[in-house]
Amino acid sequence: MKAIVVTPGHSAPRCVWAEVPEVEIGPAEVLVEVRATAVNRADLLQARGLYPPPPGASPILGLEVAGVIMATGAAVDGWKAGDRVLGLVDGGGYAERAAVHPGLLLGLPEDWSFAQGAAIPEVWLTAFLNLFIEGGLAAGQAVLIHAGASGVGTAAIQMAREAGAVVFATAGSEPKRDTCRELGASLVIDYRTRDFAAEIMAHTSGKGVDLILDPVGGAHLGRNLSVLTPGGRLVLIGLLGGNRSEIDLGLVLGKSLRLIGSRLRHRPVSEKARITRAFAERCWPLLVSGRLHPVIDRVFPILQAEAAHAYVRENRNVGKVVLEIGPA
Ligand SMILES: NC(=O)c1ccc[n+]([C@@H]2O[C@H](COP(=O)([O-])OP(=O)(O)OC[C@H]3O[C@@H](n4cnc5c(N)ncnc54)[C@H](OP(=O)(O)O)[C@@H]3O)[C@@H](O)[C@H]2O)c1
Repeated sequence: MKAIVVTPGHSAPRCVWAEVPEVEIGPAEVLVEVRATAVNRADLLQARGLYPPPPGASPILGLEVAGVIMATGAAVDGWKAGDRVLGLVDGGGYAERAAVHPGLLLGLPEDWSFAQGAAIPEVWLTAFLNLFIEGGLAAGQAVLIHAGASGVGTAAIQMAREAGAVVFATAGSEPKRDTCRELGASLVIDYRTRDFAAEIMAHTSGKGVDLILDPVGGAHLGRNLSVLTPGGRLVLIGLLGGNRSEIDLGLVLGKSLRLIGSRLRHRPVSEKARITRAFAERCWPLLVSGRLHPVIDRVFPILQAEAAHAYVRENRNVGKVVLEIGPA
């Protein structure tokens, strides 16, 4: 089969669509003909050799797939060849075929494209996990979502709005801020030119927010802690702004704050299956009905994976960047 093969380059790694060994499935796995996958920051890091896949995972890039089931292992119930599906993988999405755990699959609605399906798994499950399971977000609470126009951010804003939370977001350009407002954020702050902490405090009459979903890390940490309410939670999901920060621990102790680090990919498959089921019950019906929707910026053919990576690396995307793979 063919897959994206990465070769290290001087400035940027080369991504070439080339022949690789056929994927084999175990008895508890499903073989999916991949018709679309999508770009994640993890892929950019992995391509540069900075984020090795977890032990046992495919070394091929790609954390999510949408496609058609070709075969099922002997121990698989509930799925059959021909089913249109989408799902998480812990590697191997940038390929013609991928092995997927059946507990991580969702059925692709009849009227959805494969590109729409591929825009769901990684960012919607990450947003769901960290808003509700790790972050304990409840109706009436306030949440600050950094990088609101990112793939994760566009999913998080919609689910938080739907849960009855008051949503604040940050984003670096006016078109990105417009998208955040359209999706349901009541205040969107230009974090590049404004002090987001001062704006949040002014807008909440000094109360602050109950939860922060933070992919930025170091650059924002002190100000994030300053705007959390007593008992507030910060869920750290990325380090786009650096991995070092000096903070006032008096704030953490004095307000009984919780600082939570959370990664999806490295969790055991049984845990990811539980997260997928919880998401399937609570949020998937809202996506299927059209009340929530994946935000897709651009769809690139898989042969242009390198260009798609550059587009994301340059922070140009609003929502997801999808990679389409033609039928074999
Ligand atoms: N922990 C997990 O399990 C998990 C899972 C999925 C993703 N993630 C992480 O979540 C983050 C978002 O992922 P994504 O795929 O949604 O990203 P994305 O769509 O590529 O968007 C990321 C956005 O973050 C903003 N940004 C970049 N550098 C920044 C900085 N230094 N300070 C503040 N904002 C910055 C940019 O928007 P602006 O133009 O608005 O600055 C950029 O477009 C990434 O860090 C990713 O690694 C974590």
